[in-house]
Amino acid sequence: MKIKNIPHYQNLFEGLMAQVPILDGSKIRYINFDNAASTPPLKSVLKTVNDFSVYYSSVHRGTGFKSQLSTHVYEQARQTVLNFVGADPKTHTCIFGKNTTEAINKLARRFPFTPTRDILLTTTMEHHSNDLPWRVNPHVKVVYITTTPDGCLNMDDYQSKLRKYGQRIALVSVSGASNVTGYLNPIYEMAEKAHAIGAQFAADTAQLAPHREIDMLHLTDPRHLDYVTLSAHKMYAPFGTGALIGRRDIFSQGTPDLVGGGTVSMVTLKDVIWADVPEREEAGSPNVIGAASLATAIESLEEIGMDAVAAHEAELTAHALDRLSGVGDLKIYGDTDPKNVENRLGVIPLNLKGKSHNLVAAILGYEFGIGVRNGCFCAHPYLLDLMKITESAVGQVRKSVLRGNRSNIPGLVRISFGLYNTTTEVDAVVDALKKISNDEYEGDYVQDIATGEFTPKGWEPEFEDYFGGLETSTRL
Ligand SMILES: Cc1ncc(COP(=O)(O)O)c(C=O)c1O
Repeated sequence: MKIKNIPHYQNLFEGLMAQVPILDGSKIRYINFDNAASTPPLKSVLKTVNDFSVYYSSVHRGTGFKSQLSTHVYEQARQTVLNFVGADPKTHTCIFGKNTTEAINKLARRFPFTPTRDILLTTTMEHHSNDLPWRVNPHVKVVYITTTPDGCLNMDDYQSKLRKYGQRIALVSVSGASNVTGYLNPIYEMAEKAHAIGAQFAADTAQLAPHREIDMLHLTDPRHLDYVTLSAHKMYAPFGTGALIGRRDIFSQGTPDLVGGGTVSMVTLKDVIWADVPEREEAGSPNVIGAASLATAIESLEEIGMDAVAAHEAELTAHALDRLSGVGDLKIYGDTDPKNVENRLGVIPLNLKGKSHNLVAAILGYEFGIGVRNGCFCAHPYLLDLMKITESAVGQVRKSVLRGNRSNIPGLVRISFGLYNTTTEVDAVVDALKKISNDEYEGDYVQDIATGEFTPKGWEPEFEDYFGGLETSTRL
């Protein structure tokens, strides 16, 4: 599929023209500004799913032509992922799994911490998926690098934690980019410092991978990345795949964390010979369609060029920051300077003063057909810091949550851009926020105390009109 020189990128994606119902009874073209959570599929990816379905069969263990072809496609996908992140297949392997969360959980269970090298150094700005998996490993002591008051990673604190804990640090694990502020972390510089004390370095690139080039570099380069994790559903290939790209030597040792079919070379009732990497780390039947669709998304992104992706998103972000500055009572968290857009992703967290984030997000959806995310974005410690919520206020909220009341959990509204978004769409969300700020909205909203969510009174969406309402004759 030829995709160069396309004036804008919307033609490349499925579903962007979908009409959705809004409160006044009309229908409107949906605008998705929740790309940091999940992205719509590329048409090239859907074509792969359809074309490959004709030949899809069991991977690795089948002897028929379709099985051999499926195995070939799966292994090629692995190479495509390795190339995409600049990994050397001699030293690194690509382990497919469900998503970044599963990949980091695997790394947390499989990394060889020892009693003398027991520290995992991460940051307070992480997604929970790069925090909780480490916390629950009883052999690991988790130490956090703090952030500066404006939410950037505190590199002085990093340096002082490296000095303080030195050789006890086994691994440093940091997000390549924040899913809350879009800040890019200096992962290569951090990796160099980690390697200097004999530690390894992992980058959670769930947010970075769809928007920037990644280069793991050769192991002999002090700035190399030992591990990288990513999710296909954030890269326009939502078919259930993620990848952990990591060091062969580490995964060749020890017992896999999940065991069963596919992980072994031989089993007797007395012992087991584990398969080589990466098979020993992929228990059960693999998701070959997911892997093929991730590979196709990568090929499409590479054909467009990651620089072009970054340039387009920087333009959207600069435009948004510029226009949002004109909305009364709107506060943006993190960097607000349109001149800095090359050093961040298009993720903008904001609030309208005096209005709950739950309410603002609901109105955007129900009255303007705009999808955003609101809440704490699975990064509670970072968000509470960024919003400067006091310890005692956190304590109050905690008590309410324990009583089943989530109505007052602090949070923000997040707008996050994908490759296909346009400045016209940015204008639409800015205009909508202006109206909400001026109380120009129709609905009479009620909050569900248990979930915190607002819905307009009398709203009953007919989901079957959109999906699931197939004619009886087309059902099996
Ligand atoms: C920085 C970061 N890490 C990890 C994750 C987890 O990704 P997934 O839900 O695909 O496992 C996310 C998801 O938003 C994220 O933004």
